[in-house]
Parts: sequence; C-alpha cells; structure tokens
Amino acid sequence: MIAKDLHKSFGDFKAVNGVSFSINKGEIFGLLGPNGAGKTTTIRMLSTVLAPDSGQIIIGGHSMKSEAEAIRSIIGVCPQDLALYEDLSAIDNMIFFGRMAGLNSQDARTQAMANLKLMGLEERAKGKVAKFSGGMKRRINLAIALMGNPQLLFLDEPTVGIDPQSRNNIYENILGLQKKGMTVLYTTHYMEEADRICQRVAIMDGGKIIAMDTPYQLKSQLGSPDKVTLEDVFLKLTGRSLRD
Ligand SMILES: Nc1ncnc2c1ncn2[C@@H]1O[C@H](COP(=O)(O)OP(=O)(O)O)[C@@H](O)[C@H]1O
Ligand SMILES: [Mg+2]
Repeated sequence: MIAKDLHKSFGDFKAVNGVSFSINKGEIFGLLGPNGAGKTTTIRMLSTVLAPDSGQIIIGGHSMKSEAEAIRSIIGVCPQDLALYEDLSAIDNMIFFGRMAGLNSQDARTQAMANLKLMGLEERAKGKVAKFSGGMKRRINLAIALMGNPQLLFLDEPTVGIDPQSRNNIYENILGLQKKGMTVLYTTHYMEEADRICQRVAIMDGGKIIAMDTPYQLKSQLGSPDKVTLEDVFLKLTGRSLRD
C-alpha cells in the first residue's frame, strides 16, 4: 500500500496536509497521534470513502483514481464509530455486512460463524447486539471487517473505551491475523499500544507526519529504548504532551 502526498481540506481547514507513507505486505503499521491529527481522514481516503483533494493512493497494485472497486474488494475496514444494527443479532449483522461485501448467502453465513468464533463470540451469535458490552461490539466490528477475506485491514482506534479482556482479545487476533499474512494499518492515540504491536509507526500531528520509523528507532533517538516511551518521543517532537 502506497500513499503519496495526500491532501484533504474541509473548507479552509487542512485536515491532512501532505501525507506520504507505504506499508509492506504482512506489516502492522501504526498511525499515531492525538485527536484531530488527521488519522481518520487519512484512513477514510485510503478506504475509498473520501476522495483526496490531491495525492496518489495505490493498494494491491491498483490505483485509487481508476480502480477503487478493485481496492474495495481487497480491504477490510473497522471504522472508529461503530457501524452495527443494534436490533439484529450478532450473526445477522455479520451476514448483512458479508452480503454487502459481495458474498453469496451461504458464504456469508460460513464466514460469519468463522469470524465470530475467531473473536471469541460464537456463543453469543444469536444475541441482540443492543445487549452487548462496548468491548463485544468492538470485537464484532472487527469480525465484520474480516468478511470477504481482505488482504489489508484498516483499523481505526479499535480499542477505545473497552475493557482489558476485549482489548487483549483484539491484540491477540491482530497478531494472529498477521501470522496468516494480513497487512494492517492501525490508528491509535495510545502510544503504548502501538509500541506493543506495530513494526513501524508514523506519528501524525496537525495533518502531517512528523516522524516515521520502528518504535525502537524512534525511542533510541531520545535515550535508552527500554526507558523511553513513544509518549516521550511525541513530547520531544511537538513540545506538547499527548494528553493535553
Ligand atoms: N467532515 C468533516 N468536516 C469538517 N471537519 C472535519 C471533518 N472530518 C474531520 N474534520 C476535522 O479534521 C481534523 C482531523 O480529524 P480526524 O481525521 O478525525 O482526526 P483524528 O482521527 O486524528 O482524531 C479535525 O480537526 C476534525 O475536526
Ligand atoms: Mg479518528
């Protein structure tokens, strides 16, 4: 996946201002930054939802400008805001989104069960989503992103506001998917989380990437990598704390 000099404004406001990076096959790549940095806008452009004002996107050898449909067929998206039908059961949500991804009803059902099982929710398959905890809903959101067997996953803050058990389940699943060859773009404002699962990270602030490397290399520039955190790196780069 290659993103080259992406720009996106909303009115006069430049939400994404010249963002370039590429992700290697099989890599977990983290896009880090505080709220408002432009992470979601970047993911929305990469996932064909929002057209960039300028710049180039190539995914799986396909150009966004002429082959958005081909790109859509090889990506899975877990949006920051949960997209679930509260009145439907977990399995019916999965089947619905599987059909939307172009699966026939039998494949949709088969994949829905497999992905619910993967996320540890098969026993709740027939339960209404309205009754689920925030963490369970997040896990279903991730299970939905897997419908249609994507090669590249976009996960936008998949662990915000959830219990530690669901959070660990999500980490383990992402790492498990990587073992099977999945490529992942992961956004978060939790630096520690990125440090734990990402091979490389880009730190974003004010619509720009201000640093990009392995967590180890970024931390090494400040001192001993086992004592420095990515929070420290952000503070050093911007003069601001992430939590401000
Ligand atoms: N549809 C929109 N209209 C106007 N402003 C937007 C829109 N989407 C995002 N923004 C603004 O762009 C900036 C970046 O937002 P976003 O990409 O959601 O950041 P992040 O995901 O890093 O928190 C924010 O200041 C946000 O308010
Ligand atoms: Mg966001």
